[in-house]
Amino acid sequence: MYSKEELQNGLRTHIFGKKISTYDSIDSTNACAKTLASMGAEEGTVVIAEYQTAGRGRLGRTWQAESGSNLLFSTIIRPTLEINKVGLLPFFAAAGAALALETVTGTRCECKWPNDVLMNGKKCCGILLESSFQHNVLDYAVMGIGVNVNQKLFDEDLKDWATSLIQECGREFDRRNVFHQIITSLELLYSEVKNGNFEIVLNEWKTRTTMFGKQVTLTQAGERLRGRAVALSADGGLIIATPESQRVCYAGDVTFARES
Ligand code: BTN
Repeated sequence: MYSKEELQNGLRTHIFGKKISTYDSIDSTNACAKTLASMGAEEGTVVIAEYQTAGRGRLGRTWQAESGSNLLFSTIIRPTLEINKVGLLPFFAAAGAALALETVTGTRCECKWPNDVLMNGKKCCGILLESSFQHNVLDYAVMGIGVNVNQKLFDEDLKDWATSLIQECGREFDRRNVFHQIITSLELLYSEVKNGNFEIVLNEWKTRTTMFGKQVTLTQAGERLRGRAVALSADGGLIIATPESQRVCYAGDVTFARES
C-alpha cells in the first residue's frame, strides 16, 4: 500500500484526506471508518486498503477486488443535513467519482441508480454509503468507494458487467492520481452538500444517467417491478411508472429492457 505521506503529497484539499489510515489488508475500509467515526474521527478522514478480506457491497453483497490493482477507500463525512436529504448522499459520492474518473481517463462515465459508475455500459466503480444517526440527526456517514483501476481479469460471474479503467481505456493508470482526483472532486462538490444545496450535485448525476424514459426492471429481495423510469424523487428514490401507478423505490437493482 502507498504510505500516508505518498497519498497526501500533492493533495490540495482542506477536508478530505487530511487524515489517512492505510492498510495492506483489512476486513472492510467501511467497517474500519465506521469504528473510527463512532470514536469521533474527524470529517474527511480516509481509510484506504490494498486488499479487503470482507469488502462490503450494496444489499448485503461482497465487493471483490484483486490486491495491488485497485482503489478501495472510505471517507467519513459529518454534514448537518435535514433527514430527508441524507438519501441524496450516494448521488454526491457517485457524481464526484464520475467527474474524477472522466478527468483522469478522458472517457465519459454513466451514473446508474442508485450509485454505480459505469464506463461503456459496464461498472467500474461501486459506492456504499453507510449512515449513523443520533436522535434522528445524522451523526456521520461513511462513503465507501471501490474503483477497478488496473485489474485485467474478473471472475466468471462478474465479467459480463464489471470492468476497469485499464480494460476500457487500454492503458494503466497511476492509482495515486486517480485517488487524488476523486478526493478533489468530492471536496469540490461537498461545499454544496454542506449547505444542503444538492441541485448542482444532482445535476452532475442526472447529466450522466441515461435511464429516464426507459423501460426498466427493478429487482429487490426477489420482487420485480417493471415500468418506465421517470425521475428521481426529492429524497433520492427512483420513480417508476407502471400502467397502474407510480412507485418510488429506494433500494434494488435496475436492469434495462432490451430495445426492440
Ligand atoms: C456496490 O456497488 O455494491 C458497492 C461497493 C462498494 C465497495 C467499496 S470498496 C471500499 C469500501 N469498503 C467496503 O467494504 N466497501 C466499499
